[in-house]
Amino acid sequence: MSDYQDTVLLERPEEHVALVRLNRPKARNALNMQLRQRLAEVFQELSADTDVRCVVITGNEEAFAAGADIRDMVDTSAVEMYLRHTERLWRAVSDCPHPVISAVNGYALGGGLELALNTDIIIAGEGAKLGQPEVRVGIMPGAGGTQRLARTIGKYQTMRLTLTGEIISAQEAFSMGFVSKVVPDAEVLETALSTARTIASMPPLAVEQIKEVVVHGPDASLEGALLMERKALQVLFASDDKVEGMKAFLEKRKPSFSGR
Ligand code: CAA
Repeated sequence: MSDYQDTVLLERPEEHVALVRLNRPKARNALNMQLRQRLAEVFQELSADTDVRCVVITGNEEAFAAGADIRDMVDTSAVEMYLRHTERLWRAVSDCPHPVISAVNGYALGGGLELALNTDIIIAGEGAKLGQPEVRVGIMPGAGGTQRLARTIGKYQTMRLTLTGEIISAQEAFSMGFVSKVVPDAEVLETALSTARTIASMPPLAVEQIKEVVVHGPDASLEGALLMERKALQVLFASDDKVEGMKAFLEKRKPSFSGR
């Protein structure tokens, strides 16, 4: 396997679940351009794969990802930065129609935390450390850190984190609302995989509709978002899985969802 492909490993630990591992352990999984491009490719592949129903993304015990690779940026000009168009690479992750769960051990800093914020559920270990320390190296978040955090935890906590670069614990991030669940470090991946297993056992069309409405609704007016929600619900009434789910409930048996 080439160095490029090695930067992100793709596994299929169980039916309908994909596991993506960031793999630059010596650099605390810092996101260099190779890793980002490979990550985008992997997500494009997973997005198109209708057999996949949930994705887990993780790093290793020491780091989910310690941010954009500073070596990759130290001599980079503004024009080069622009021409990298990294927004296209990030979009491959945020546009994934399947739910994505971040399993975070160790550091999730800068672009590493932004990667987690691009996903849908964040499971963090008790020892995880999260933050947006970009200001300390003369820059600022550029992949949603200011915006996704402000829309999730509000202006005042976002200002504290982005202006001081303070690194906080998983428990504090959970209290603020941008970590979904905190578990012992050794249980992070298994918790993420068992959550993925549960989601993968649900009717996939309902799962994708829920994700779409939760992600896009907040950008619309409340009336528009409520309309979007109702329309998504109505569309699900055309699915076989709605009939199967409701019949199975009434017949007191386990449903067997087809994904249609
Ligand atoms: N970029 C490049 N290399 C990095 C890196 C990063 N973001 N984070 C860690 N590394 C490298 C270190 O340079 C070091 O390499 P060498 O062994 O070759 O010296 C190796 O990973 C191990 O790092 P440390 O020795 O520093 O390990 P530690 O356990 O003592 O500390 C750490 C870990 C707290 C994460 C520390 O490495 C650190 O502070 N990293 C930088 C965090 C940061 O500032 N992230 C934001 C980056 S900017 C960004 O993300 C921009 C953006 O969104 C637009």
